[in-house]
Amino acid sequence: MKKLIPFFTTLFSSVVAYADYAMPIQGNKYAAEVDSLYGFLLNVSLFSFVLVIGGMIFFVLKYKRKTDNDGTPYISHNNTLEFLWSFIPFLIFMFVFAWGWKLYYQAKAYPENAFEVHAFGRQWAWDFQYKSGRMSTGEMVVPVGKPIKLIMTSSDVLHSFFIPAFRIKQDVIPGAYTALWFEADKEGEYQVFCAEYCGKSHSTMYAKVKVVSQEEFETWLAADPMKAYDGLNLADRGLKAMKTKGCNACHYLEKDQALVGPSLYGQFGAKRNFVDGSSGVVDEAYIRESIKMPNAKKSVDYENGIMNLIPVNEKEISWIIEYIKSTSKK
Ligand code: CUA
Repeated sequence: MKKLIPFFTTLFSSVVAYADYAMPIQGNKYAAEVDSLYGFLLNVSLFSFVLVIGGMIFFVLKYKRKTDNDGTPYISHNNTLEFLWSFIPFLIFMFVFAWGWKLYYQAKAYPENAFEVHAFGRQWAWDFQYKSGRMSTGEMVVPVGKPIKLIMTSSDVLHSFFIPAFRIKQDVIPGAYTALWFEADKEGEYQVFCAEYCGKSHSTMYAKVKVVSQEEFETWLAADPMKAYDGLNLADRGLKAMKTKGCNACHYLEKDQALVGPSLYGQFGAKRNFVDGSSGVVDEAYIRESIKMPNAKKSVDYENGIMNLIPVNEKEISWIIEYIKSTSKK
């Protein structure tokens, strides 16, 4: 028993230290306060666990009846103790409630001067739109030290926008708007996860929040995203456009293998059988139609497939066509 005590103390302190160590960095103005509440809950829980389970084991051993009449007192209840072990936890719970309410209120009190960004969830990517007209997929750039408000909706199923480093998470709901706000106090890159199971590629529904200086942000906001395509031939532009728009969440672009959706590699000229019994060949018109009206001609192999409408302009469609052509046998 004596030897076990240091073992358990070490184990206990390792758990506490690990919980502390395992927290992501605090990238949001109010992240530290969320962590304090979390730490408090963790410590109160550990303390209660040791007290309750330890006390139980202690009393079971101490008052174990050896024979029917060994003189062990029979105690049925104790009013004072029963009151205290209900009232003290009640006070702790009320304290935690008030603390949690304060933090929740803070997380839901959107600052009036917040910089607004529209965010859209879809299977399986995040799109962002700024008031200036700048759009991005899988990457949200924001200035440091400014309150940012996200106005969010989904174009298909439930998603959840989760930035661990900011300690915020909010469901994104089709047919409704939800919001969240944060103020990043350090420059850097932060990981966004989808925290609501939303289908096969849920676990790869990532995005990045890039927190940069005000100047850098303005440069980014004013930049022409089409610049990134300068000097590329049409096929390479097609590949880049598809990666930027998150097509690779459902389609392999660089190998002929099915993912959730069919591969887009080497498919030009391939034969397709449609659910209405007709058939056709993958050509320019078919690719364009599949992007603009994904359900118009459903292939028998993907009868239950769902393809989202993704904002793509005519130029980009022609690049995609050229990419698919360039990977296909002549
Ligand atoms: Cu989107 Cu899970």
